[in-house]
Amino acid sequence: MNVTDDFPLLKNKPLIYLDNAATTQKPAAVINAVRKFYEEECATIHRGLYPLSINATRLYEHARERIAEFIRVPSQHIVFTSGTTDSINLVAQAVPLKKGDEILLTPHEHHANIVPWQEAAKRAGAKVVWCTLKDDLTLDLQDLKKRINKRTKVLAITQVSNVLGIVNPLKEIVAYAKDEGAFVLVDGAQAVPHMQVNVNQLGCDAYVFSGHKMYGPTGIGVLYLKDLSLEPARTGGDMINDVTAEGAEFAKNEPRRFEAGTPNMAGVFGLAACVDYLEKVGMGAIHAQEEKLLRRAWDALGSLPRVQLLGPSPDKERRAGILAFTVKGVAPHDVAEILARDGVCIRAGKHCAHPLHYQLGLAEGTNRASFALYNTDEDVDALVAGVEKVTEVFK
Ligand SMILES: Cc1ncc(COP(=O)(O)O)c(C=O)c1O
Repeated sequence: MNVTDDFPLLKNKPLIYLDNAATTQKPAAVINAVRKFYEEECATIHRGLYPLSINATRLYEHARERIAEFIRVPSQHIVFTSGTTDSINLVAQAVPLKKGDEILLTPHEHHANIVPWQEAAKRAGAKVVWCTLKDDLTLDLQDLKKRINKRTKVLAITQVSNVLGIVNPLKEIVAYAKDEGAFVLVDGAQAVPHMQVNVNQLGCDAYVFSGHKMYGPTGIGVLYLKDLSLEPARTGGDMINDVTAEGAEFAKNEPRRFEAGTPNMAGVFGLAACVDYLEKVGMGAIHAQEEKLLRRAWDALGSLPRVQLLGPSPDKERRAGILAFTVKGVAPHDVAEILARDGVCIRAGKHCAHPLHYQLGLAEGTNRASFALYNTDEDVDALVAGVEKVTEVFK
């Protein structure tokens, strides 16, 4: 797959960008859609009666349909937010909880899917419960099921770990939790960029992801919400049917119930262009490319004596293109800094997953390389050469 020319930043500035789990580079198709909005289409939606505004409303609602088709859900359940974090906060403030209720989390969660639930638990007097991992760092499904009971009001779970790249077997887990009556939120931030997702088949109550991690604009995110009667966490303009001096009647059974205020229209249009771009390249082709890169990196880095790879081999478990590792005797920040000198961009730290790192006894953090559709075998080879250099510098 040779798509580098589609990405202006990569074309103009030769670097080996392997921090895609943090954010991805943007194709010209997305940048042009955002520019076109500001240059040719800029007007507020849902309000104006003049052609520019009517057109902006049409494009906005069309974008909602495109994103809904992309993840296989009906469009009236797609809410635009500012990102995954925002989507989860919205849900964590809306799901009714009371004293004694339980919220089940997994050690694979990003802070975005931990902290809003800890805060919700605090407000309601509910309790956060954690399931455990097996030795290979996959979820212990027996343990997870044992922890789901009638008190479990929420299961908040990631589809793909942003540290380990492990793809969780969600169909089985969601079905089990739904049978017990829990509200299930799936964090798809690291899944949507890497594979074809079918939210309808997953059967969850909420599914969330960010535009910027899937080659789209920053500041735009998506919340698929099955139950549109939940209480909106944010109120104001555009989410109401009427407002009097005494109070407001909120929109019912419509996504705008959760979209108070003027939305990020440029972001929405950019995200729709991004979905068009991804479908043109093909999610299957993207997944295959990243899997190939992951295996190449896994084999080459794994053969270096001082490198420890985290999680199960891609031969044993389904993994997305995310690879965390440590180099014995070298701090993760030193590893990343030495690689950066040769233009190789990887991440060092705890990747907004402190509980996982503490549990693994890796308080200093790890390094993480994460792949995208524009990465090549040569990028992987540069990563490996860089890590080899690190082991020479820190003998
Ligand atoms: C799995 C996962 N969930 C949530 C987030 C938060 O995404 P955002 O910062 O776009 O809200 C991230 C970001 O790294 C992530 O990897």
